[in-house]
Amino acid sequence: MSKEIYKLDKDDFYRFVENLIENFETIGVKEKRGNFVFSELESSRELRLDYDITILPPKVFLLPPYEKLMKFDVKEQRARISKGETKRIIIGVHPYDIVAIKQMDKVYLKESPDELYKRRRENTIIIGSDIINVSEYSFASSLDTHRVEDGFDLLLTELDDGIIIEVGSEKGKELLFKYAQGIEEASEKHIEKVERHREKLPEKYKLKIEIEKDQIPFLLMDVYEHPFWEEESEKCLQCGSCTIVCPTCYCYDVRDEVSITLESGERIRTWDSCLLPDFTKIASGEIFRKSKLDRYRHRFYRKGLYIPLRYNFIACVGCGRCIKACIPKIANPAEAINTLLERRSKSKGKLIYRLPEGVESRASFVPEFAMIRRIETLTESEKLFEIEMVGRDKFNFQPGQFVEVSIFGVGEAPISISSPPTGSNRFELVVRKVGNLTGKLHSMKEGDKIGIRGPLGKGFNIDEMEGKDLLFVAGGIGIVPLRSLIKYVLSKNNRSRFGKVFILYGSRTPRDVLFMDEIKEWEKTRDVEIRLSVDTCPEGMRWDGKIGVVTTLFSEIEIRDPRNTIAIVVGPPVMYKFVIKCLKDIGIRDEDIFVSLERRMKCGIGKCGHCQINGVYVCKEGPVF
Ligand SMILES: Cc1cc2nc3c(=O)[nH]c(=O)nc-3n(C[C@H](O)[C@H](O)[C@H](O)COP(=O)(O)OP(=O)(O)OC[C@H]3O[C@@H](n4cnc5c(N)ncnc54)[C@H](O)[C@@H]3O)c2cc1C
Ligand code: SF4
Ligand code: SF4
Ligand code: FES
Repeated sequence: MSKEIYKLDKDDFYRFVENLIENFETIGVKEKRGNFVFSELESSRELRLDYDITILPPKVFLLPPYEKLMKFDVKEQRARISKGETKRIIIGVHPYDIVAIKQMDKVYLKESPDELYKRRRENTIIIGSDIINVSEYSFASSLDTHRVEDGFDLLLTELDDGIIIEVGSEKGKELLFKYAQGIEEASEKHIEKVERHREKLPEKYKLKIEIEKDQIPFLLMDVYEHPFWEEESEKCLQCGSCTIVCPTCYCYDVRDEVSITLESGERIRTWDSCLLPDFTKIASGEIFRKSKLDRYRHRFYRKGLYIPLRYNFIACVGCGRCIKACIPKIANPAEAINTLLERRSKSKGKLIYRLPEGVESRASFVPEFAMIRRIETLTESEKLFEIEMVGRDKFNFQPGQFVEVSIFGVGEAPISISSPPTGSNRFELVVRKVGNLTGKLHSMKEGDKIGIRGPLGKGFNIDEMEGKDLLFVAGGIGIVPLRSLIKYVLSKNNRSRFGKVFILYGSRTPRDVLFMDEIKEWEKTRDVEIRLSVDTCPEGMRWDGKIGVVTTLFSEIEIRDPRNTIAIVVGPPVMYKFVIKCLKDIGIRDEDIFVSLERRMKCGIGKCGHCQINGVYVCKEGPVF
């Protein structure tokens, strides 16, 4: 399709901008104390198309640093998603920022579209602007983001004798013809001038990446263990600035803010940073990216390897904002790539990396209304909740999947479904009281209202288990998701589809053993062997079984055919290493071992970044692996 390109004299252009300011919220690039910022224009003369780089990217207007997701009523546990979006025009967006917006669109609009982002995006008109002055920090030409062919509604190029305007969408054209006067078709000479400007632009970049951008993921696979990461990360102040200023970083946190009367409130989304230590912290206190090295390296790998594999683009557009923002001068992606390229041979190990299959999630961030129908106290710290999805006839799920439990005024927490699928609209959760949400849930009564999002994540692959012997290994509260699968396998309808069943279950003390009555029932089923252990038996408690960690139970069972046995392991993070060693020692193959992992989660739908292990989203590709 041939391009539509027009020209406005400078005075006509400023009148056009003036008209936009009168009719819309119009954001443009302005100078502020020696720096450039995207901010609301009060006059067209404030607009600076000659800027080099702004402090923050225009993403601020599409995914704001602080935004109200919904307003809620605490008593009714009902929420209203934030309404209304002003029509907004952003003028002067450089090509690299347009590419960054296209990347965000892919993440936020494709799978589980984010309603608020979508609405904001639909109400935003992007008027791009070719780069006139190249920032000393930018390396956009190395990533081919110094120019764009699409992603804008209008694209401006400032020449000496006027502004050339390329049309990128019908919306853009309409805007131009409605609010501008003196529009002429751009002459061949002007079009050539623009093209020459774009072609010559790469010469102005001082900072360059020394390899082709397509080679960056391969280089990163080779240098995962390189001493460079340790050397550089030692200097990191963990301030998070490099992610805050980045147009392609979109991880977030969610929390509830309650009004002074405690009757209503707002669920708030804020930007978050994977460079901060608490980003991966879970209730047991475990932090999954513990060291500065882990967190510092993760930022580069997320941008250069994990996201490219998932979405097919490098998640850096070379704007250079992080370079400018980082005080110890260690956030520079171009410099890191060039150094690693030069010192590649110093690396000890290669990162073998494959993205597992996930499930397509349709869940949104808005919880569905649900009711607590039954509560059973299991131990001092664990309660069972039967939940009814009030607005649904059926709640279909697979054993191993989880839901996000929402209590407006407190927040959300991921909890595994503990009952087998029944085809009804009810299911069971078993919750250990560890913090705010779980504590609040423990104080609730039958008939109380909560919110549920889900089912989420990938459950157990039951088809793969058919005809096989099954060995379940549970540690502590790990029995909760396993119970869903165990009850499914042992049910009358399904029992004949599976071979012999072994269950090894370790708890801290006799008082912590969950579902003792059910376990006795399970034992009565044909071909089921169950062994229990406790770490200790304090004085005053009775225990006839084994004392020791769960791995001590392996000596008590005899697996018939390890090659025809599938092991399913769920427990606290420390348990996995030891249990997996035992499984391998008895001859069970890697591909026949399934685990369910706990990670910090916020969105549950592959967006917020909290649950990531390298490039894998535990909430989407897991929790069962
Ligand atoms: C897939 C999955 C399934 C789970 N299934 C169960 C289950 O069946 N039963 C059960 O009792 N627990 C389960 N958990 C753990 C449960 O999600 C956490 O205990 C819960 O989020 C803690 O929330 P809180 O508000 O009570 O604690 P908080 O008051 O928020 O915090 C206590 C601590 O937990 C950390 N934390 C905060 N948010 C999260 C989060 N979203 N995920 C993990 N840690 C967090 C905080 O950093 C803090 O250190 C599961 C977790 C995952 C990821
Ligand atoms: S990583 Fe740095 S250079 Fe790359 S897009 Fe983000 S802020 Fe810009
Ligand atoms: S790399 Fe730099 S900007 Fe990023 S967290 Fe560390 S010190 Fe802050
Ligand atoms: S990406 Fe948000 S919890 Fe997985």
